[in-house]
Amino acid sequence: MNKTHQLQYLEAMGIQTWQLRDAGVTAHDTEAVAEPVQLPEKIVPAPVAPVPEILRPNVSEMAWGELKKVVSECQLCDLHRSRTQTVFGVGNHAADWLIVGEAPGKDEDLQGEPFVGRAGQLLNAMLLAIGLKREHVYIANILKCRPPENRDPKSEEVECCEAYLARQVALIQPKIILALGRIAAQNLLKTDTPIGKLRGEVHHFGETGIPLVATYHPAYLLRSPGEKRKAWQDLQLAVATVKCDSE
Ligand code: URA
Repeated sequence: MNKTHQLQYLEAMGIQTWQLRDAGVTAHDTEAVAEPVQLPEKIVPAPVAPVPEILRPNVSEMAWGELKKVVSECQLCDLHRSRTQTVFGVGNHAADWLIVGEAPGKDEDLQGEPFVGRAGQLLNAMLLAIGLKREHVYIANILKCRPPENRDPKSEEVECCEAYLARQVALIQPKIILALGRIAAQNLLKTDTPIGKLRGEVHHFGETGIPLVATYHPAYLLRSPGEKRKAWQDLQLAVATVKCDSE
C-alpha cells in the first residue's frame, strides 16, 4: 500500500484529521446504554418460549454451503418475519481475522452483506490502516437478521443465532477475533462488563482459546470521533497479538 493511501486511511481512523463526521447513525449503533424504548401503554410483550432443542438444526458439522442455506431459511426467532433476507457473513474462509459486529442494519438487510453502510466504510478504512483489505478478513455479526428499527438484539435472538456464528468460527479458525462494539463483545465474552472496560486487552473466545480484542463499533466512532484514538490502539493490540501468535 502506498504512503498516501495509508495516510488517507489513518486520517479516516482519526489519527490526523476527522472524516465522515456527519454520519447518519442509527439507534443500534450507539455504545452508550440507550434510553429504554417506551412501548405504547397497551402493548405488553408476550413471554417468549425458548425454541425446543429438537427444532434447532445441528450445524456443528456443516460445511459452508449447507450452513449458509440453513441460515437463509432460519425461522428460529421472530426476526425472520421482518427481514428482507439473512446476512450470513462475507470474506475469506481462511482469514486470520474474524470481525464480528452486532446485527445487520437497513443497508445490510437490503444488500445481504454485513457492514455495507457508513459504518462499513469506516470499518474498511480501519482495516486498510492496518494493511488489511476487506476481502482478506471475514466479517459477520452476532445476529444474521436485522432487528426492527435497529433495536438491540434480544437475548433469545442471540441464542438462536449463536450456533451459526460458532460454526463459522470453527470453519475459519481465525488467529484473532475483533469484536466491534458492546453487543458483540459482551455476547462473545458472555459478560455484561461495559465495552470501555473490555477494550484495551486481549481476551479469549470461549473454549476455542482464540484471542479476542474488543473495540468500539465504527458507527459509535462516527458519532464520537474523539474515541478513534482508542480504537486505533485496539487495532494495534490485535495486530501485535496476531504477530505474536505467528512467531
Ligand atoms: N452494524 C453492525 O453491527 N453490523 C452490520 O453489519 C452493520 C452495521
